[in-house]
Amino acid sequence: MTNATGLRVGVVGCGYWGSKHIRVLHSLESVATIAVIDPNPDRALQLSRNYPALEAYKNLDEALPHVDAVIIATPPSTHKPLALKAIAAGRHVMVEKPLATNAADAREMIAAAEARGVVLMVGHTFEYHSAVWQLREMVQKRELGDLYYLDTARLNLGLYQNDCNVLFDLAPHDVSILNFVLGATPVSVQCWSSHHAHQLEDVGYLRLHYKDPDITANVHVSWLDPCKVRRVTMVGSQKMVIFNDLESEERIKIHDKGVSQAPQLGEDLTQPPMSYRYGDVVSPHLVMNEPLLVEDEHFADCVLSGMVPLTGGANGLAVVEVLEAAQLSAAQGREVLLEEVRGSKVVLAEPAMAPQATAVLSNGSAPIGDLR
Ligand SMILES: NC(=O)c1ccc[n+]([C@@H]2O[C@H](COP(=O)([O-])OP(=O)(O)OC[C@H]3O[C@@H](n4cnc5c(N)ncnc54)[C@H](O)[C@@H]3O)[C@@H](O)[C@H]2O)c1
Repeated sequence: MTNATGLRVGVVGCGYWGSKHIRVLHSLESVATIAVIDPNPDRALQLSRNYPALEAYKNLDEALPHVDAVIIATPPSTHKPLALKAIAAGRHVMVEKPLATNAADAREMIAAAEARGVVLMVGHTFEYHSAVWQLREMVQKRELGDLYYLDTARLNLGLYQNDCNVLFDLAPHDVSILNFVLGATPVSVQCWSSHHAHQLEDVGYLRLHYKDPDITANVHVSWLDPCKVRRVTMVGSQKMVIFNDLESEERIKIHDKGVSQAPQLGEDLTQPPMSYRYGDVVSPHLVMNEPLLVEDEHFADCVLSGMVPLTGGANGLAVVEVLEAAQLSAAQGREVLLEEVRGSKVVLAEPAMAPQATAVLSNGSAPIGDLR
């Protein structure tokens, strides 16, 4: 169901992130009307100062007759009930990260969307980021030589959340980036987390083991760090790369440097064990379209064309499974196999890396290389 003049999109939850969706939806030609759906009347009031044509509803029930699709940007514990309600009414749904707070809920949402024949997409914004496409291309083309390891850090003082810990708040970004860049999902997870200033865990370290390619990735997330850090590092035998999302320019820097073992020196401990190679640092030009705009435009395109989203329900589930395995690992102090949280090894209708996802995004910005 779509309006003849364009899509009618409702944004459920118009706080920090939902208000950004409202902004980018306004620049999409395919969107005819936009509704603010939030029980807090101040949200609609503030947004209508900049966007006077906004419709406003206190809850999803009131809004459903007036929208074709919804973007859910509410606290994570509300994602499942809101998404199931919208899906049951035949509305297309995009859910902010994390898709759900556990894998069983994510599976239920996927099954409901399939049964109702509507789009279910997850807001893994970094998979719409040209810097992340560049990282993926470098891995695919083996530009770093043998990939040794990956490391991510997403740290700051805050923003503390009420209904999910730092793993479910921040790590979805890193797990989604790693899965996307490596074109795989991990086979096992180790996690250490702790809580200090809050009853929920505010610091977490994850180690993800991938099998194909055979590689380990470390993820550090924290709401309790003096410095804001948003960094992905990839270290290879030939080159090393840093993606620093806090840089306004030169977000990716490729360091042509490395190490190799020094010739055998026997028992001579006076010589260094490694020799070091230092070369140029290159920052490739990136076409920077705002990732959220690319993502929302892609959602609208999928609704209108029936195209399978780049980040569909299975992609969201793959990330939630890793987070669930991480929680279990932290609680039990052991490595957890993804198979354990997959239980009966549910066969997904859409693979985590959907082959249909080679679709070009409609703003002309195609993900670099063979996306999926
Ligand atoms: N993709 C990204 O980069 C990114 C960035 C930030 C946040 N997020 C995600 O966006 C979501 C919202 O985060 P936030 O920081 O904007 O939170 P927020 O607290 O600023 O806003 C949440 C809003 O939801 C409203 N709300 C709560 N329950 C509701 C309900 N049942 N129906 C309608 N509205 C309801 C609240 O009134 C509030 O306005 C989370 O899932 C978060 O993980 C994604």
